[in-house]
Amino acid sequence: MSELRQRPTAARSEKTEIPQRRRSSDNDGDHGISLLDMIRVIVTLIVASCGLSYYMTSTESMLWGYRPWFTRWPVVKQWVNGPVNLTPAQLSLYNGTDTTLPLYLAVNGTIYDVSENRMIYGPGGSYNFFAGRDATRAFVTGCFKDDLTADIRGVETMFVPVEDVVDEALTSAQKKIRRERELRAAKAKVEATVKKWQGFFANHKKYFEVGRVVDGVADGKEWPLCESAEKQRPKRSAMKEKS
Ligand code: HEM
Repeated sequence: MSELRQRPTAARSEKTEIPQRRRSSDNDGDHGISLLDMIRVIVTLIVASCGLSYYMTSTESMLWGYRPWFTRWPVVKQWVNGPVNLTPAQLSLYNGTDTTLPLYLAVNGTIYDVSENRMIYGPGGSYNFFAGRDATRAFVTGCFKDDLTADIRGVETMFVPVEDVVDEALTSAQKKIRRERELRAAKAKVEATVKKWQGFFANHKKYFEVGRVVDGVADGKEWPLCESAEKQRPKRSAMKEKS
């Protein structure tokens, strides 16, 4: 009888074994990688990468050159305040002489903040003449003295050939058609050049768009083509030689 009471049944032995197994697996867990450990490793790697990037990019970026717009304080401020509309006279105040104001320039009526490059656009900078104004014409012609204006009327002439061949075997109607075709191509070139510069400022990692120039529509007499643009015009004779 007493022997029977003391003999462990299969059920009893299972009950006693299971907690033992559990205990041993708990001990195994102490030596594994916990979630906290993984978070620690990831955070350490991120901090190390940011530090290394900051060092390698000469304190420019903690993300290896990647600077999303929301990490740039002036861009965030601009986004919160909304776009600015400035007349040419108001825009002229943003040419770098007043250091409390940002540096702005405009291309084709769109204003860009170029404050991060005072070396180039600030007073004494090599391209300071672009600051505080819309000088789209100069962006096309490269005439940095004569063409500091937004007026691009007639600027396509710089891409239209100079007619220096006298006795061409073409009727005046054929010449007119050719002229119109060349004028269309020249206008497309101007448009592409302006777009290229707008893209340059819009996509530049240091600059950003801030708004529009208002009341800056060109009127009156058409701006003459500057001397160096006139000199660079293609010549019909040279074109004939090539073809
Ligand atoms: C249509 C003609 C041209 C236009 C519209 C133009 C425009 C510009 C602009 C807007 C910048 C500043 C870029 C920035 O914000 O980083 C720049 C920089 C520069 N450009 Fe021009 N450019 C022209 C022609 C030239 C020519 C012919 C030369 C060389 C003889 C030249 C040499 C330079 C140099 C060296 C820089 C760097 C300036 C610096 O770091 O101070 N550019 N150009």
